[in-house]
Amino acid sequence: MGAYSLAVLGGDGVGPEVTTEAVRALAAIGEQFGHRFQFHHARVGQAAIGSEGAAISPATMSLCQESDAVLFGAVGGTGVGDPNSPVQPEQALFALRRDLALFANLRPVRPLSALFGASAIKRDILRGTDLLVVRELTGGLYYGRPSEIRETSGHRAAVDTMAYDEAEITRVVRYAFELARARRRRLTSVDKANVLSCSRLWRQITQEIGSAYPDIELRHLLVDACAMNLIRQPREFDVIVTENMFGDMLTDEASMLAGSVGMLPSASLGDRRTAHGQFGLYEPIHGTAPDIAGQGKANPLGAILSAALLLRHSLSLEPEATAIEKAVQAVIRAGYRTTDIATPGGTTISTAAMGERVAQAIRAAVAGEQPMKKSQS
Ligand code: IPM
Ligand code: MG
Repeated sequence: MGAYSLAVLGGDGVGPEVTTEAVRALAAIGEQFGHRFQFHHARVGQAAIGSEGAAISPATMSLCQESDAVLFGAVGGTGVGDPNSPVQPEQALFALRRDLALFANLRPVRPLSALFGASAIKRDILRGTDLLVVRELTGGLYYGRPSEIRETSGHRAAVDTMAYDEAEITRVVRYAFELARARRRRLTSVDKANVLSCSRLWRQITQEIGSAYPDIELRHLLVDACAMNLIRQPREFDVIVTENMFGDMLTDEASMLAGSVGMLPSASLGDRRTAHGQFGLYEPIHGTAPDIAGQGKANPLGAILSAALLLRHSLSLEPEATAIEKAVQAVIRAGYRTTDIATPGGTTISTAAMGERVAQAIRAAVAGEQPMKKSQS
């Protein structure tokens, strides 16, 4: 029996809806395995700007720092705030990633065969895909300065800065090598070394680190070629490591292999350990989806699978993490779908109904009951 303290930051748009379902899954795990999860809810993003004057308040930042892990929904993109204001909802995410030193963002992509029909990619190409993108999360264009729009005598110009130093590259690339060692021992480092100095340094350092990992097959791939190969032959990839913005774009692309951006979870990790495991922040890779917010249409599975990653990495509860992943598979196999992954013959249900199905599947599996029956549609 363990007691764990979790910060829950739903954020904006569909963020709170999907986070509620992740909390429901964790509560079911708590009941079945005898753990006590304390959920501490706080505002971030547009919701916090309105009531607390900042995208994330110092009190919320402290709450996160003191928790065993952070469960995050989504922020920004709701079209509510002033786009020219210096205070933007996304700042909550950037501050959390940077201030909590969460430099490695893990985004696993393992399409479920029952969802092959929901993908725009052919089954033969999807079969056997099991890849992990390690996205550098605290450097590059997201944080480089200067970054501004300038106006001189009626002429507008803008600048953004991509910057990386040796330490930033080394820590995330090492992390990726270690992860590759625990998987199929193949690492693809993605860059744009034919154009960018940051990428040339990235490639040099990765090559040097690689000499300490002779058991790992290392290859370098330009980001444009990677984008193409991700949908041409995704099963060729094992671990991919890349800088911040390339990782952002490639993972939205890779989510299409899994049928929907709503299916992908993520774990953001650093070096800090707590009494229970590695400290981390867990969020689905999708955004706030303002067009469907509040309608019960969002897919909560990316958020629920993020809760599984939280159990695995931050609380070292592997059987519990697997229980969530198996429950998600059982619900999908039984034919339940949210609209984004609707397939012929499936039963389309709401965000909350999907969360409830997963919670039931967790209880059924742990109690040793019959697997879920195929739904009647
Ligand atoms: C992501 C998101 C964020 C990012 C946005 C919301 C700023 O797209 O986590 O992938 O670009 O990092
Ligand atoms: Mg993104």
